[in-house]
Amino acid sequence: MKKHILIVPGDGIGQEVTTVGKQVLDRIAEKFGHEFTYDEALIGHVAIEATGDPLPEETLVKMRASDAILFGAVGHPKYDNDPSAKVRPEQGLLRMRKELGLYANLRPIKLFDELLEASSIKPEILKGCDILFFRELTGDVYFGKRERLDDGNTAYDTMIYSKYEVERIARKAFEAARTRSKKLMSVDKANVLESSRLWREVIQKLAPEYPDVEVEHQFIDAAAMLLIKDPRRFDVVVTGNLFGDILTDEASQIAGSMGMLASASVGDSTGVYEPIHGSAHDITGKGVANPLASVLSAALLLDISFGLKAESEAIIAAVDAVLKAGFRTRDIANSETPADKILGTDAMGAELLKNL
Ligand code: IPM
Ligand code: MG
Repeated sequence: MKKHILIVPGDGIGQEVTTVGKQVLDRIAEKFGHEFTYDEALIGHVAIEATGDPLPEETLVKMRASDAILFGAVGHPKYDNDPSAKVRPEQGLLRMRKELGLYANLRPIKLFDELLEASSIKPEILKGCDILFFRELTGDVYFGKRERLDDGNTAYDTMIYSKYEVERIARKAFEAARTRSKKLMSVDKANVLESSRLWREVIQKLAPEYPDVEVEHQFIDAAAMLLIKDPRRFDVVVTGNLFGDILTDEASQIAGSMGMLASASVGDSTGVYEPIHGSAHDITGKGVANPLASVLSAALLLDISFGLKAESEAIIAAVDAVLKAGFRTRDIANSETPADKILGTDAMGAELLKNL
C-alpha cells in the first residue's frame, strides 16, 4: 500500500513523541511491504512563532493533500495565564478540526493489564475495563457564538447543536456498539439544557434503527461519578464536545496515565491521530515523555484510515510486550520499578522497535 502521511508535531513534547510514532510507522512499512511517504507541517505555538498564524494556510493545504495525519500536541504555558491573548495555539487545533470536518473524536480507554497498579483506582474495580468514547468535536460551546458585553464585564458562550450534528456522531457510536458489547451510553445534561434535550431526542429517534443495541442515557454529573465508581459498566459512550473533553480526561486516569492514550479524529476528510496528553511543557526537552500514546495513535491511524488491521495489532502487541518486559517511562513507573527499567522517550522507542 502506498500512502502519504503528514507529521504535525506541534508544541512541547509533541516533537519528541511523534518522532517515535513515525519510527514505528516506518518499521511497519518495512515489515509489511508498504510505502509510506512523509511531510511535516507547523501548528500551534511553533506556527505562531514562525508565521503569526496558529494554523498557516500551508499546513492546511498539506493536511488536505495527505492520506492521514500523525499529530503531536498544541499549547504553550505563556498563554494560559493571559486571557487577553488574541492569538492562541489552541485556535489552530480548533480551526483544523472545523476545516477538516473532524466531527468524531474516538478516544479508546484501553487498559494494559501490566499497568493496573499505575491507576489511582483499585485494580479489582478496573480489571477488564475497556471503553470507547465518541466525543463530538466540531460543535457545542466550542464553536457557538461568544461575546463580551457590558464593557467587558459580562461574557457568554453558546452551547449549540443541530440535529444533523448529533445524528452523524451518534450513528458512528451505534455502529461501533454493534461490533462490541452492543451497549451504548449517551451522556448529556437534558435535565437542564435545551441543547441536551435535542441531543437525547435525536438518540432516542435513532435507537429503533439499531434494535440490537441497548441504549442508556446518563446525565454528565452522574456519568462522571459512575466512571470512577464502576468503570466496567461503560462500553461505548457518545457525548458532546465539552462533556467529552472533561469525561475523557477523567477516564484517562483509568488507564494509569494520559501518556498511554491515543485518539482518532475523523469525519469528512483526512483523519488526525493524536495522543490525548497535550504539550506538557513541564517535561518538554527532558527526554522523559512517554511516546506510547503517539505509538498507539499510529496504530489507530493504520487501522482506521488505511484499514490495516494486522499492522495495527502488531503495534499494540509490541506495546504489550514492552510493558510485560517491565519497561516503563517515568509517568507509568512506580516505587517498585527497578531503576534500569525506567526509560526515556528514545530508549522506550528503541525497545518498542526491537519488538516489532
Ligand atoms: C483536547 C484538548 C483541547 C480541547 C484543547 C487543547 C483546546 O483539551 O483535545 O481534549 O479542549 O478539545
Ligand atoms: Mg481535553
